[in-house]
Amino acid sequence: MSVQFKILIGILFTAATVIVMLIYWAAEDARMANYTASFEGRAIQAGAESYELYCATCHGEHGDGIVGKGPPLNRKDLLDLKNTPYLKAIQWNGTTHDFIKNTIAAGRPQFSAYYANEGYTEHMPTWSQDYGGPLRPDQVDSLTAFVLNWAPGEFDPIVAIVTPTPGPTPTPIPLDQLYATIPFPASPPSEDILNAGKAIYDKNCAACHGEGLGGDGPGATGAVKPRNFTDCTAMEAFDMGQHHNAVVNGKTATGMPAWGPRLSDEEIWQVIMYERSPCKLYVPQ
Ligand code: HEC
Ligand code: HEC
Repeated sequence: MSVQFKILIGILFTAATVIVMLIYWAAEDARMANYTASFEGRAIQAGAESYELYCATCHGEHGDGIVGKGPPLNRKDLLDLKNTPYLKAIQWNGTTHDFIKNTIAAGRPQFSAYYANEGYTEHMPTWSQDYGGPLRPDQVDSLTAFVLNWAPGEFDPIVAIVTPTPGPTPTPIPLDQLYATIPFPASPPSEDILNAGKAIYDKNCAACHGEGLGGDGPGATGAVKPRNFTDCTAMEAFDMGQHHNAVVNGKTATGMPAWGPRLSDEEIWQVIMYERSPCKLYVPQ
């Protein structure tokens, strides 16, 4: 074999190796892009659920804002990532992402000059546990991703616009029929059932209804506060039918979410039993 031929083989091998590596890198890039896209998608979906729970009462189901409660968030001037006149007007030099995230995390304990004349009845609440609010930092991240999903351009290729699904229309069930749907002995419910109810409550309800069932959680920021489940005189007038209807269908105008689409029938009954446990009002007796 001539020296020239060996050199030629060597060059060919090197070239082949380079080509294989280039193909590998390209595939890896695509894989990472896919991974990032599906990660973004999941975060936005989780953010949509938190948004419906915590934000829609003031900013509207679709981010259109509510007069007297909160400004629209789906505004081009707030979210246009390439051209941010609003962020310039308020002299924010960071990114849109950080602006939204910081606002959600820390809230606005005072009205900003920009909104001073809007007549909002309440301030933008503090949300992150880092600042004494009710939400974990990862929930704030998902909310940020969700609000940014209204941004024109930048996020469109990744996922379609996600909007939270509103709960069903209220259809109260007559009491005698309702009692028949309780999936366990109800009067009194067992310790296991009350413990299961407490776990559901602590995870989904305590932020607004208070850790001790007193109606004093930091997440209930609207004008109508949740009732105190330990006030037994008031609880006596609040029957199981009303209780069930409120949990299943929510009272969306006041900020109480509908749990029918999120919890199973059994979980709904467990959390109802837990909420009724301070006053032991477990009809049917
Ligand atoms: C009690 C009503 C209320 C609730 C609930 C609420 N906000 Fe706000 N939010 C406001 C008000 C009022 C402002 C304007 C505050 C100001 O700058 O004076 C605001 C401002 C904002 C802004 C900045 C908008 C801008 O143009 O500067 C963002 C982003 C925001 N809220 C996101 C959220 C998210 C996400 C949630 C849910 C976790 C939420 N808000 C819940 C009332 C509320
Ligand atoms: C985002 C805050 C928030 C969360 C989370 C929340 N609630 Fe509520 N809830 C409220 C508010 C505000 C009211 C008062 C609504 C009214 O009386 O019009 C309320 C009312 C209720 C009522 C009706 C009380 C009455 O007097 O009519 C029940 C029952 C209830 N919530 C149960 C639950 C359960 C169970 C969970 C968790 C699975 C939960 N809530 C989660 C805010 C919340």
